[in-house]
Amino acid sequence: MSTIDYSEKIPNNVNLAEDKALQRALEHWQPNYLSWWREMGPDGSQDFDVYLRTAVSVEAGGWAHFDHVKMPDYRWGIFLNNPEAGRQVNFGEHKGEAAWQEVPGEHRANLRRIIVTQGDTEPASVEQQRHLGLTCPSQYDLRNLFQVNVEEGRHLWAMVYLLHKYFGRDGREEAEALLERRSGDADNPRILGAFNERTPDWLSFFMFTYFTDRDGKYQLCALAESGFDPLARTTRFMLTEEAHHMFVGESGVSRVIQRTCQVMKELSTDDPAKLRAAGVIDLPTIQRYLNFHFSVTIDLFGADESSNAATFYNSGLKGRFEETKRDDDHRLHGRTYTVLGVQDGRLIEREVPMLNALNEVLRDDYIRDSIAGIGRWNRVFEKAGIPFRLQAPHKAFNRRIGSLAGIRVSPEGRVVSESEWAQHERDWLPSSEDRAFVTSLMGRVVEPGRFAHWIAPPANGINKQPVDFQYVRFN
Ligand SMILES: [Fe+2]
Ligand SMILES: [Fe+2]
Repeated sequence: MSTIDYSEKIPNNVNLAEDKALQRALEHWQPNYLSWWREMGPDGSQDFDVYLRTAVSVEAGGWAHFDHVKMPDYRWGIFLNNPEAGRQVNFGEHKGEAAWQEVPGEHRANLRRIIVTQGDTEPASVEQQRHLGLTCPSQYDLRNLFQVNVEEGRHLWAMVYLLHKYFGRDGREEAEALLERRSGDADNPRILGAFNERTPDWLSFFMFTYFTDRDGKYQLCALAESGFDPLARTTRFMLTEEAHHMFVGESGVSRVIQRTCQVMKELSTDDPAKLRAAGVIDLPTIQRYLNFHFSVTIDLFGADESSNAATFYNSGLKGRFEETKRDDDHRLHGRTYTVLGVQDGRLIEREVPMLNALNEVLRDDYIRDSIAGIGRWNRVFEKAGIPFRLQAPHKAFNRRIGSLAGIRVSPEGRVVSESEWAQHERDWLPSSEDRAFVTSLMGRVVEPGRFAHWIAPPANGINKQPVDFQYVRFN
């Protein structure tokens, strides 16, 4: 069960060869996937040999192998964590039943929707990031970008496997549609808002992998609790890969901050104009990027009150973060949760049935985790002796989804008028000038061991390789 056969057309640990119809269906989807990758995958990368990790087992120690791989020859495969003997449905109305190995008929439509929504985010982020390689700040960063991209591609495979194996014809149609939608396309966009935004520069990329890949982590953690066992096992393995994506974001922003602090000290100034002239990203601009990515990402958790969320939980399809570690009845009837609302132009707290507030519960778990990482960024300022601190904006700031959509709230959480918003928007969210400035810094640096002027080198290389290792061979 645990080793992966790479001699097969589609590497897998699910005994694909024993299910000929499924194997044929997936082998039919594979060339369509590859043409999507050629069309929408990393721009201009087709001939590069990249030092990538590939999954070779699902065991915790030593699951990954690192080597130079020609990008389109990357072996995207299907890997599920090993089954857990005697696993049960751990929450909702079916709590205590044996976990399902097949899709329960009554929950089929909801389950398909959950899988498609998750699956859609994976190729979307590859599309959003496809031009970034042209302006990479170093070979090390270029390699990390490609690593994230190939693994998002594999996450698409993970969801497509479930669609093909468990959902018959409509599953196959959904799998095709996943290759047809395009991030940001007016006619056929990706399903969720944040996945239709552009990721135009590397500061955006680092913020995206910090904040939005972390949303991915929380969604995957909730699905890893699913009573539908194949979904739980698939998402558990995806989570092992996801950790590196968040590392790329966290360390990336950290290195930007480190470099700016260095120049601030050299020039003894915190004047954004002087720092920009010196070719580094001023701290208020970093805060505005943070505000944008934080607010857009927390919208991904959905409406604060949602009957779908209650249904997904009741029916055992989607749990809470660390469901089985929680000490309650795992049914949640009669329990309440506090959500924010607006009354007479003020933010108020309201108690609502917890089952309906499960999106908010997950969002709050996510926010706690995100804020912890912002604290780690702030240690870079502390070490440099610079009094500036980054902050997460208020949960109600710049929201488009749920009961907070459509009101104007400052990053500190004060409801403001439309005119005050207009007056301060440039202080709170990246302006077109901010974006143009950040874009102006982006230039391609690819000599091994060299880094763009606006970012510090990392402390360590990948897989214990030196920082100046040849991570990408351009051929
Ligand atoms: Fe992913
Ligand atoms: Fe990711």
